[in-house]
Amino acid sequence: MSIPPPGSDSPALELREVAKSFGAVVALSSGSLALRKNSIHALVGENGAGKSTLVKIIAGLYQRDSGDLLLEGDSVDFKSTAESKGAGIAVIYQEPTLFPDLSVTENIFMGRQPTNRFGRIDRKAMRAEAVGLFERLGVRIDPDRPAEGLSIADQQIIEIAKAISLDAKVLVMDEPTAALSGVEVDRLFAVARSLRDEGRALLFISHRFDEVFDLCDTITVMRDGAYISTDPTTAVTVDEIVRRMVGRDVTELFPKQETTIGPTVLEVRGLTQPGVFHDISFDLHSGEILGLAGLVGAGRSEVVRAVFGVDRYQSGSVSIKGRPVPPNSPTAAMNLGIALVPEDRRKQGLVLESSVARNTTMAIRRQLSKLGILTSGAENGSARIWDSRLEVKTNALDTEAGTLSGGNQQKVVLAKWLATNPTVLIIDEPTRGIDVGTKSEVHRLLSELAGQGMAILMISSELPEVLGMADRVLVMREGRITAEIPREDATAESVMFAATHAEEHVS
Ligand SMILES: Nc1ncnc2c1ncn2[C@@H]1O[C@H](COP(=O)(O)OP(=O)(O)OP(=O)(O)O)[C@@H](O)[C@H]1O
Ligand SMILES: [Mg+2]
Repeated sequence: MSIPPPGSDSPALELREVAKSFGAVVALSSGSLALRKNSIHALVGENGAGKSTLVKIIAGLYQRDSGDLLLEGDSVDFKSTAESKGAGIAVIYQEPTLFPDLSVTENIFMGRQPTNRFGRIDRKAMRAEAVGLFERLGVRIDPDRPAEGLSIADQQIIEIAKAISLDAKVLVMDEPTAALSGVEVDRLFAVARSLRDEGRALLFISHRFDEVFDLCDTITVMRDGAYISTDPTTAVTVDEIVRRMVGRDVTELFPKQETTIGPTVLEVRGLTQPGVFHDISFDLHSGEILGLAGLVGAGRSEVVRAVFGVDRYQSGSVSIKGRPVPPNSPTAAMNLGIALVPEDRRKQGLVLESSVARNTTMAIRRQLSKLGILTSGAENGSARIWDSRLEVKTNALDTEAGTLSGGNQQKVVLAKWLATNPTVLIIDEPTRGIDVGTKSEVHRLLSELAGQGMAILMISSELPEVLGMADRVLVMREGRITAEIPREDATAESVMFAATHAEEHVS
């Protein structure tokens, strides 16, 4: 490739055949990408394809082994994140990186607090700018509260506010919408479009193709660490992109099989935690997939965390097959046959320093042990079954879980809980961050487990997933159940209506 003459035609940022290895693992073999002003560029590829590695090289977090990085046509080298930031590049990572103890405002201005004429940090100015940013983003977040305990959606918004306040010329977003649902995504896209129209160059990474095609003008596909293709989004189809990503045809999503719904196994009655959720009652049957839909913040995760005993509730009851599940005891819930695959899997589901095999078998170590001893053979044997079923991409089972790509970490947590063969499986956002190939495998697996009699409670912010998989849909809004919709009546409209409107009270 020849270097184009400098001028307005040069891409805002360009990567040419960039490579990066970690020991024997080739994360990126040939990453190429050209981001232009006034453009939103999509980067897609399977879990482990090297997208986040490429992003971290742009961010100055990783140093490339070879290849070229050009900023407006000039060759550059970012030896640190500060250098990349200084060059006008803002990166929003797949995992938000806020400081939990600092306030929302402090997080936005971390490391570059404005000072007043006495050289002191100007807290008033900081706070006012934070408020202005949130207004522009159309969100309401208390600027003075600590970052700790914020939802993933709000954490992402704060990262975006930070990037805008830096006036970045290039904005990179690594799966920013994975934790957002409908309304939040629309809001984010409106912001992204206005940033594009201001002349910025945006890079957008997502496993959701509807978003990619809605938002982006250009799309680059990567596979196994290498560049595959770049096209205008108007010139390609989803099927074509998926084929290039996966290297094969992908079977249909949502392969829901017909099942006979059995007796009630889980009974939740009047579960209430003031200010969080109110009077939550429902039954879950053996063989049933019950979808729990609603907007982010509707209280869905809070309810299932209470059912499982990780969070407390003030009143109400939970029972499984007629036996009471004591509150505040995940251990008791587990012993009674409940498993919860949490939403924030990186924080709640994985021991990052431990091996993939150990993480996969974490919840069944006692069953795998003989006379109290767990051999690595038994551990690896069990881990291999589940990890291959979920297509976890790793070089070896003794790899540290923390070095897996985001989507592959998700798969390990799924594997860990599926291995327990629970009576009731509660799963919060089963396919968040998971690529299209494995997504259909996860759906097939859930459908199969339900077919074998498992009772599944599935929270999902992806409407097609809820509609495709659930036998019945419960919709929550502001801590209450606003609708219960049988599969045959569940449509995007009926679910969205219940998610955004209070229950119609019949008097
Ligand atoms: N620090 C690291 N040490 C060792 N291997 C790594 C490290 N970072 C990434 N890898 C490996 O590099 C490969 C690419 O990972 P990367 O995170 O770039 O994938 P990705 O395309 O972002 O996937 P996802 O869609 O799951 O987020 C993976 O096989 C991963 O295990
Ligand atoms: Mg990634």
